[in-house]
Amino acid sequence: MMPNAAAPATEGSDRSVPLHVAIIMDGNGRWAAARGLPRAEGHRRGVDALRRVVRAAHELGVLYLTIFSFSSENWSRPATEIGDLFGLLRRFIRNDLATLHSDGVRVRVIGEREGLEPDICALLNEAEELTKANTKLNLVVAFNYGSRQEIAGAAQRLAREVAEGKRDPASIDADTLGRYLDAPDIPDPDLIIRTSGELRLSNFLMWQAAYSELVFVPIHWPDFDKAALESAIAEYARRERRFGGLAVKTGS
Ligand code: FPP
Repeated sequence: MMPNAAAPATEGSDRSVPLHVAIIMDGNGRWAAARGLPRAEGHRRGVDALRRVVRAAHELGVLYLTIFSFSSENWSRPATEIGDLFGLLRRFIRNDLATLHSDGVRVRVIGEREGLEPDICALLNEAEELTKANTKLNLVVAFNYGSRQEIAGAAQRLAREVAEGKRDPASIDADTLGRYLDAPDIPDPDLIIRTSGELRLSNFLMWQAAYSELVFVPIHWPDFDKAALESAIAEYARRERRFGGLAVKTGS
């Protein structure tokens, strides 16, 4: 069972623990190469790290954890590697869903479902449906996700409403567009972590990241653990968030 959070989340309050942490789990391939192992082994160990981090996030008082598990651009990888990543997602849902559910984790999925194999869609739906009433931690899986595609999709839905005469173009502001993204009820990430030392967002949550604090850590994702998450959160707590205005301390 997942223990109760050390610091219960209080939405909207000034907290030193971020309400929403999003992670770009990078470096699986390099982790494997450094050990003379196949890339698939790096991804497999990446899933172990994910299990650790889901538990740690909850223990530390995080309420939303978004993970970048397959990007719209990952289709350019060799078919065998794409097969490995899809296989891992299948196994993760089949093996871990019951535990996630009994631990009170709600699974959400963002990204494009169209074009995915039917059994993958069915597993993603099953995970969302089974866990929809859970409230301990929201695990948001970005799968076949790309931020530009997400924003373009929102623009398309709004344009359709305008074309059908249901909406005045002048009514569209940033809040309106935000409501047409994949998961409008989920608060923007307070903290975005990227592992492996790369310093980019790579088409991840670009709209939602407008005022996120970015923390880049030099270790590869399979080595990421609770201590690494705590240290990223400590770095976050030292930042001064201003949201374009004057000083607002993250820590309390
Ligand atoms: C980046 O490492 C990682 C990915 C492209 C996929 C992340 C996926 C997992 C951790 C496992 C699958 C997820 C679930 C939910 C089952 P990379 O391959 O780009 O590493 P490199 O930059 O060192 O080559």
